[in-house]
Amino acid sequence: MNDSPEIITTVRDLRARVSGWRRAGETVGMVPTMGFLHDGHMSLVRNSRAQNNRTVVSIFVNPKQFDRASDLEAYPRDMDRDAALLAAGGVDAIWSPEPEEMYPPGFATSVDVSGLTDCLCGATRSGHFAGVAVVVTKLLLQCLPDRAYFGRKDYQQLMVVRRMVADLNIPVEIRGIDTVRESDGLAMSSRNWHLTEAERAVAPQLFGVLTDIAEVAGRGEDVRPTIDKGLKRLERAGFGAVDYLEVRDAENLELSHRPKRPARAFAAIYLGKARLIDNVPVDTPT
Ligand code: PAJ
Repeated sequence: MNDSPEIITTVRDLRARVSGWRRAGETVGMVPTMGFLHDGHMSLVRNSRAQNNRTVVSIFVNPKQFDRASDLEAYPRDMDRDAALLAAGGVDAIWSPEPEEMYPPGFATSVDVSGLTDCLCGATRSGHFAGVAVVVTKLLLQCLPDRAYFGRKDYQQLMVVRRMVADLNIPVEIRGIDTVRESDGLAMSSRNWHLTEAERAVAPQLFGVLTDIAEVAGRGEDVRPTIDKGLKRLERAGFGAVDYLEVRDAENLELSHRPKRPARAFAAIYLGKARLIDNVPVDTPT
């Protein structure tokens, strides 16, 4: 059994711990999370462990990135379970500040990444990416790891973080990690817990539809008829409101019906109470 990782709750203690490692010549990887960990998060941890001497996982349910107070309240939390998973995963420290440590009274600074945040999740979730940008900036500056790990599951978030780190000269290398899926294709997510048994049974159809769209795009054909077919199939399966189902450029996220450059098929659709998001790469013709 591994030792339990130390749970650090103040910026001061985090800085002391990380600078000790650095003085000893050790490299540090960071995995930012909001907790309630699953194997998708643990895949980021495994990558960090393989590529750095030390790994810090942050667990902070960031109030600034929720557009509704009820969503923030409903967000699942279980520190004991998370700490046990991270102990088994060989993590060195858990950075778990209280909201007042992260945002002390008088906190007044925002980080706004324009352009990339206008589409996809940015179009329907107002303030979401501003909340992500400010907390990720803070997490990276608090810890100052050599590398930080983000999932392609939240592809737009990864692109926003990359842009911001480059623009602000934050001295951290950002690594993107592929989406971990259940055996039936459903992307792992803490939101999957909201699904009923019947919803869980149809949920993998979202991955099926995205894969069909990506295949058509990969053949150099117009994706719109396949998107229409996909929407009908999801509606028949019991999916609800569609935030988006579209193909976009993998770098600038511009809409593309017949991509000539690397692209991805993206979706955000409600199924019962859960808003499922997923995306898959398009193999564009060379
Ligand atoms: P959270 O939803 O907890 O996700 C933490 C990290 O795990 C993100 O980088 C996310 O992309 C990655 N992840 C989630 N599901 C995954 C899966 N199935 N496969 C691979 N990676 C997966 O994303 C956030 O938290 C927050 O916005 C955060 C970046 C921590 C800022 O608050």
